[in-house]
Amino acid sequence: MVFALGCAQKAPAEASASPESETAAPVSEPEAAVETEVPAAKEDLTPVFDFEKKTVKLNSGYEMPITGLGTYTQLDDTCINSILLYVENGGRMFDTAFMYGNEEAVGEGMRQAMEKYNLKREDLFVCTKIYPTQYENPDAAIEEALRKLDVDYIDLMFLHHPGPQDVKAYKAMEKYQSMGKIHSIGLSNWYERELEELLKEVDVMPSLIQNEIHPYYQEKGVVKYMQKRGIVMECWYPLGGRGHTSELLSDETITKIAETHGVSAAQVILRWDLQRGIVVIPGSTNEKHIKENLDLYGFVLSEEEMDEIAALDRNTKFDWY
Ligand SMILES: NC(=O)c1ccc[n+]([C@@H]2O[C@H](COP(=O)([O-])OP(=O)(O)OC[C@H]3O[C@@H](n4cnc5c(N)ncnc54)[C@H](OP(=O)(O)O)[C@@H]3O)[C@@H](O)[C@H]2O)c1
Repeated sequence: MVFALGCAQKAPAEASASPESETAAPVSEPEAAVETEVPAAKEDLTPVFDFEKKTVKLNSGYEMPITGLGTYTQLDDTCINSILLYVENGGRMFDTAFMYGNEEAVGEGMRQAMEKYNLKREDLFVCTKIYPTQYENPDAAIEEALRKLDVDYIDLMFLHHPGPQDVKAYKAMEKYQSMGKIHSIGLSNWYERELEELLKEVDVMPSLIQNEIHPYYQEKGVVKYMQKRGIVMECWYPLGGRGHTSELLSDETITKIAETHGVSAAQVILRWDLQRGIVVIPGSTNEKHIKENLDLYGFVLSEEEMDEIAALDRNTKFDWY
């Protein structure tokens, strides 16, 4: 089957580990659409969300919350405080990365939350990512993440981007998965062609793919393709990320739907993701927003409303990868 890839993915231009570089990287025009041959999935393995438990079962056998807290740009006490607020309001999952420079703070937030709210490690779910600069020595990168988070295992570990030696890094994650130190394996900024190329070299199907997805960049084809293969999709920049939230949150279609249901525009967007089977990890340090972003289960978007939001797709990325 032939797929048109809207945006061919590149490794980060500068393999910098600076926390600022995720958005500070030069914004380049997406490359022209590339056509590639990728095999069709034989059977439909689309993961099903359990809206009662607010979880999804990954192909690794582990259950994962379908809403989490993004921690990009949150450092030190700011990060610890948002994790405490998140857990206090019922949240259990956190998304971090080597590149965010806050794995220690996320680990500390988890420990404080477990103590304060009498929770066990297995009640929480932590996701982190290794960066392309680390792919050359992936065992050391995984050990570093375990040490910085100060955990015995990582619930979900990602390769942050495709890049040189990503197969080596993926195989290291497979090895740590067999040792029980990584429960599930994920990929980030990964598309059909990159997946098919990787799968020729590795043994374990990834459990989850985390990509930029929001109403103006919906990745309809990629989402369906990955889901059919049994891979859970997750969105970064669900609200437009740093600098573009006002555009999405004031979009007329979204605000009209929000009024109908008596919820916020952010809640409409996040609920729309969940109804598409996409896990959400909005970033926030604000208590009101954190509460709102967890309160997504008291209303249901109709098919017409889902279609109205589907029609907002501009195939426009807010970031460069
Ligand atoms: N894999 C990757 O390459 C990649 C790239 C980028 C991001 N990520 C991950 O994805 C997560 C989400 O992305 P993001 O945090 O950059 O962007 P985002 O979640 O789309 O937007 C975050 C912004 O929205 C605001 N916000 C949050 N909830 C809101 C609400 N209910 N109402 C109004 N405003 C609200 C936040 O401000 P307040 O703090 O004031 O609420 C913040 O300024 C990141 O934190 C990170 O974990 C991954």
